[in-house]
Amino acid sequence: MTRRTYTGESINVTFDASRCIHAAACVRGLPAVFDTQRKPWILPDAAPAEEVAAVVRRCPTGALEYGPGQVTAGAAPEVPDVPTTVDAGPGHPRYARGDLKITTDAGQVTAYRAAFCRCGKTQNQPFCDLSHLK
Ligand code: SF4
Ligand code: FES
Repeated sequence: MTRRTYTGESINVTFDASRCIHAAACVRGLPAVFDTQRKPWILPDAAPAEEVAAVVRRCPTGALEYGPGQVTAGAAPEVPDVPTTVDAGPGHPRYARGDLKITTDAGQVTAYRAAFCRCGKTQNQPFCDLSHLK
């Protein structure tokens, strides 16, 4: 799990590719900032910081994050959902939102958003890696 930082003037965005399942909330939400056809694919300064932050908070897997400690100016720090929710509905991974402390083989991970595997086939336990589509 490697998280890369995309540094902007007013907000820094981080991305963990191993957690992304291409739900596309980011590219649909702010195509000027998130464009998978471009390098770098995230340009944090291409929209107001609060708009960037709002789209990051919509990422259902936690692949995208910002702050605390990553916000330089212009956007309020993300706060976890209260109460914590888990969407275990049919046809998708288990989406969790809240103040998450996740125990993995590699140690404990903290997150505000995560998509957990429900099919048992993932190569990135406990997170969904889209293996359920194979
Ligand atoms: S919203 Fe999150 S999970 Fe979906 S494509 Fe963007 S980074 Fe990946
Ligand atoms: S639910 Fe997606 S890999 Fe298991």
